[in-house]
Amino acid sequence: MHPKFLDILCCPETGESLVLREARYDRHGMVRAGMLASASGRCYPIVRGVPRFVSAEHYAGSFGFEWTRWPRVQFEDQNTGRPMAGHTTRMWERITGIAGDQPAEIAGKTVVDFGCGPGRFLDVVRRKGGVAVGIDLSVAVDAARRNFRDDTDVLIVQGDLAKPPFKPGVFDGGFTIGVLHHTPSPQAGLAAMARTLKPKAWAACCVYPRGDFYDFPSVARFRRLHHLLKPLVGYRFAMGWSYVAAHVIAPMLTAARRAGWRKTTDYIEQHILVALRLKDVRWRILDVFDAITPDMASTHTSQEVLQWMKAAGLGVAAVTPWCPTSVAGVRTASSGFLSPVLGGEGCGEGPNVGRRPLSQIEQAKSTKTVAA
Ligand SMILES: C[S@@+](CC[C@H](N)C(=O)[O-])C[C@H]1O[C@@H](n2cnc3c(N)ncnc32)[C@H](O)[C@@H]1O
Repeated sequence: MHPKFLDILCCPETGESLVLREARYDRHGMVRAGMLASASGRCYPIVRGVPRFVSAEHYAGSFGFEWTRWPRVQFEDQNTGRPMAGHTTRMWERITGIAGDQPAEIAGKTVVDFGCGPGRFLDVVRRKGGVAVGIDLSVAVDAARRNFRDDTDVLIVQGDLAKPPFKPGVFDGGFTIGVLHHTPSPQAGLAAMARTLKPKAWAACCVYPRGDFYDFPSVARFRRLHHLLKPLVGYRFAMGWSYVAAHVIAPMLTAARRAGWRKTTDYIEQHILVALRLKDVRWRILDVFDAITPDMASTHTSQEVLQWMKAAGLGVAAVTPWCPTSVAGVRTASSGFLSPVLGGEGCGEGPNVGRRPLSQIEQAKSTKTVAA
């Protein structure tokens, strides 16, 4: 970490400021090792350039494994000239509603990513001219730090997003994409992120939508199988299936669909086999593994996400065009909604329903947890 980030960090237990002790620097002025200490005597180590506010990955171990194995597959520079080129940037832009090269919301601003994994979206923030801060519970933070090794404008911390080690009101914007449904309380996670934002800062949240791929009975069955076998074979079953699904099953399903067997392939995908028909085989492997290994995963409705936003004091501007559970807003001084600003076209690719008037958003159903 670069020492300039000390100003935004605090003790996650007490909120006290932290001081740097026993720091060892590299030639870029980055702290590679040392200690962060609070006045009341709490100490947090900095290991391999990452301040550590938790001593274990807890329920996020599968992600530590996943991102250590595939740390850059979803980064833009790994996809130039390949089938998924531009996907990560497009996804981020559609979820946040912020587009362009150096947008005012990002350029020169400090933006936080709650649940950054190896940092594909931090990379988008950097490309758009922002200072990027990421927090993750798993050892994905080591992959993230390696991905931004000498970048003094990136801070990565290992911590629990429900108890973030950031002072209140320090960020100009914040987002959490594909993360909160893997935590025990998505609403508490979003509220924790909101507290770290300045008044009028922008915020975006995207979670698994109810009834989509992650709710398929086939996915639930493969998760159960993985968790049954994990004490015996670790991640070998999930790895093996991910490669078979990506190299064999997905191409067969694609061919069958082209031959007109749409109903049959839908049934197989939803009820029997987990496979994704993404265009790049590396993404297919990664995303099947990601779907069948988490310890905790839930799906949600738009209405639920809107309620979390409201409770967190985030005025909702729009359900953004990525999926029904992708919502962007603005931190209001106190709790409450801003007037909805809606409209625009639905876009073509991926899970995408287009912008939808709030009045059309489906009614809340109870949160369904599919913990394996
Ligand atoms: C599916 S990955 C998404 C990573 C990244 N947002 C992306 O889309 O590339 C979910 C991430 O959330 C992290 N995570 C889960 N629970 C967390 C928590 N309580 N605090 C911080 N990170 C958490 C996991 O470690 C994992 O890296």
